[in-house]
Amino acid sequence: MNKSKNILITGSSGGIGAKIAEKLSDEGHKLFLTGRNEEKLTDLSKKINAAGFLSGCLSENDFPKKLVNSAHENMGSIDVLINNAGAYLWSPVEKISEDDVRKIIKLNLEVPYRLCTLVTAEMKQNRWGRIINIGSISGAVGEANASLYSASKAGLIGLSKSLALELAEYGIAVNTINPGWVKTNLTVECLDSGQIDEAEQLEMIPQKRWIEPQEIADLVNYLISDSAQGITGQSLNLCCGLSLG
Ligand SMILES: NC(=O)c1ccc[n+]([C@@H]2O[C@H](COP(=O)([O-])OP(=O)(O)OC[C@H]3O[C@@H](n4cnc5c(N)ncnc54)[C@H](OP(=O)(O)O)[C@@H]3O)[C@@H](O)[C@H]2O)c1
Repeated sequence: MNKSKNILITGSSGGIGAKIAEKLSDEGHKLFLTGRNEEKLTDLSKKINAAGFLSGCLSENDFPKKLVNSAHENMGSIDVLINNAGAYLWSPVEKISEDDVRKIIKLNLEVPYRLCTLVTAEMKQNRWGRIINIGSISGAVGEANASLYSASKAGLIGLSKSLALELAEYGIAVNTINPGWVKTNLTVECLDSGQIDEAEQLEMIPQKRWIEPQEIADLVNYLISDSAQGITGQSLNLCCGLSLG
C-alpha cells in the first residue's frame, strides 16, 4: 500500500497539470496547487479538496520561495515536486528576441531548477522524495521552429539526470516525462493561430492521435509509487511514437 504523499504541482490551474492533480487526489494524496488563474484554482481546489493553492506568476523572482513556504504552511512538508508549468513558443530562430529567450528559459528551466533547490534539503533529511519534470518530446528529439522551447525542455533532461545522481543515496528519484502533442490550451493556441495544422500534425504522429492528459497523470502516479522506486534519472517519452522519426 502506497503511503499518502504531500505534493506540490505547478501549472495545476488547467491542462495537463489539473489532470495530474485530479488523479493524485483520487489516489489519496494531499495536493497544493498553483497557477495564475485564481478562479480556476479555486474551483479545482474545491473539487479535489486540495490542501490549498497560491495564485501568481512563477517568473516573478520571489514567487517560487513564497510558493514553497505556502505549500509547507498548508501541508507540513513537500514529498513530491511536479514541475509542470511551461510555455511554448513557435518561431523561426532569427525572429527570437532576447526577451523571448529570457521569458522561456525562466519559466521552463530556471523556475523548475529554483524549485528543486528549495525542496531538496527537506527531502534529503526525510530520506525520501520524488521530483518529476514535465519536459517535451521537443526537448528529447528537437523540433523545427521551436528551438528555444526545445532547448529549455532539453535542459530539464540534464537537470533530472544530474539531480538523480546527486540525490540517489537519499532515496530521492528525479525523472523527466516528455509528452508528445496533447490537445490543451497550449496546443489549441497553436492550431488557432495557424502555426500548426491539425491534419498535418496528426499525420506525423505514428499513432495518429493526441496524447490524453490522463495518460500523463497515470504515468506520474506510477512514478511516485513504491513500485517505481528504481526509476530515476530517466527521460520518459510519452509521445504516441513521435520520437521514432
Ligand atoms: N500540450 C502539449 O502538447 C504539450 C506537449 C509537451 C509538453 N507539454 C508541457 O506540459 C506542461 C503543461 O502544458 P499544458 O499543455 O497543460 O499547457 P496549458 O494548458 O497552457 O497549461 C499551462 C499551465 O501552466 C501555467 N502557467 C503558464 N505560465 C505560467 C506562469 N508564468 N506562472 C505560473 N503558471 C503559469 C498555467 O496557468 P494559468 O493558466 O493559470 O496561467 C497552466 O496551469 C508544459 O510544461 C508544457 O510545455 C505540453
